[in-house]
Amino acid sequence: MSRPPLKKQVALPLVFAALFGVAWYVLSLFAAELPAGATEQQRVSHRAGEWARSLVQVVFWMSLALVAVRALNELVFIVFRKRKGYDAPALMRDLFSLVLYVTAGAVILRYTLELSFAALLPGSALLGIILGLALQDTLGNLFAGISLHADKPFQVGDVITVGKHTGVVMSVTWRAVKVKTFQNHIVLLSNSSIGKESIEVCPQDGQNARIVFFGALYTDSPVKVIHAVREAVRDADNVLRYMTPVVRIRGLGDSGVEYEVKYWLSDYARYNDTDALVRQRIWYAFRRNGLTFAYPTRTLYMEQPAGGAGGRDTETIAELLSAVEIFSPLTSDELNALAAGSTGRVFAPGETIIRGGDSGASMFVVHRGSVDVRVDSNGAPRTIKRLGEGAFFGEMALFTGEPRTASVVAAEETEVLEIGHDAMRGLFQTNPDLVEALSHTIKERREALAANAPEADGDEDTSDGLLSKIKRFFRLD
Ligand code: CMP
Repeated sequence: MSRPPLKKQVALPLVFAALFGVAWYVLSLFAAELPAGATEQQRVSHRAGEWARSLVQVVFWMSLALVAVRALNELVFIVFRKRKGYDAPALMRDLFSLVLYVTAGAVILRYTLELSFAALLPGSALLGIILGLALQDTLGNLFAGISLHADKPFQVGDVITVGKHTGVVMSVTWRAVKVKTFQNHIVLLSNSSIGKESIEVCPQDGQNARIVFFGALYTDSPVKVIHAVREAVRDADNVLRYMTPVVRIRGLGDSGVEYEVKYWLSDYARYNDTDALVRQRIWYAFRRNGLTFAYPTRTLYMEQPAGGAGGRDTETIAELLSAVEIFSPLTSDELNALAAGSTGRVFAPGETIIRGGDSGASMFVVHRGSVDVRVDSNGAPRTIKRLGEGAFFGEMALFTGEPRTASVVAAEETEVLEIGHDAMRGLFQTNPDLVEALSHTIKERREALAANAPEADGDEDTSDGLLSKIKRFFRLD
């Protein structure tokens, strides 16, 4: 709330000062000494004249005092603004003026009517009690206002919630805090009531966050949802650029996966608009990425006879497998047989697919995404290789019957095809070259392992030794 300019503030008091100054001058011209032996009537009219002059004098000086206090107030707080860089609180200005008014009033009364505060004190004791009782609430507000200023729990421009009211602080006066709600209503919260309530403050220049909820179907991958929403929200208007929004799963609901996106605002006072914009962005992100919002549904599942990996038909999987280098010599029947014995699995980023030291009876082909091969190096995991789409892993334990030589962890959301022991055994009988190709790969990988983790017990088999080991394990001879 801005004050009127100084010119407006002092105009009326100046007019009063001029009028009463002239009146005082005129009265002084007609003032005469009381002649000795004056009649009772002359004495009364003389005293009335004196009183009138004193009163005019008081109004004159009071008007001047008003001008002086207002000008001084303006001057002091211009200096305050220059020094501190912000406007002084209204309460401080009001108190400053009040002290000056009381002082000026006391001085004027003292020198015009010869009334002193000390003389007024005894008589004012009773008045004080009466005033105290009458002004109980007002004084309560004043002191609560003073403590608000000392504490500074919020400033003009901050968003606060007190009781059921939320809005932007417009001003803090000696009586109340003026708040503008998001429906553009002005609410006056008395200082004393604020002192009794708990206040939620969202500072104007603070990092205030909001949380918006949404849901996606169970069939939509969380990694995809999280990535799509984060990217859509991060550059929306009024979202803080340097704070990346956080998207996370908050529950597994009846209709779908429940998510929340937490984002930070530049201007918290506009959070309603920004929440709406964020929801809009989420809708478009879902559309672009082929995602579906969760809604109450009842799904009837008709179980299909298992058809290879993760519900995909055998032909599609066979096609995927044919792209893997070691399987390229296989005939389409062999690929179909291999596909029928494979299962599709999906892993979240950071999930362990294979744990070093475990026993294992299957190998994997990376269909989508990538994985890290990790070994223990002085007690800490170290990535020695990243395998991308079309690469395979887990063959070493599968073909030799030995424990897993390393851990394999999904580097991003990754889909793999898991091929079991039996599916491979069938192939080995008809494709002796496959066994040989695999034994070469295993040998190379073992060498790389030995170079990267010398403390691990490396098996020193030659290619031939490895080949016969595989054959023995699969009882191929
Ligand atoms: P396995 O020992 O069954 O389980 C861990 C797997 O990590 C292993 O089979 C290989 O498939 C893979 N692996 C180990 N070392 C390497 C390497 N140097 N390069 C690529 N893959 C590897």
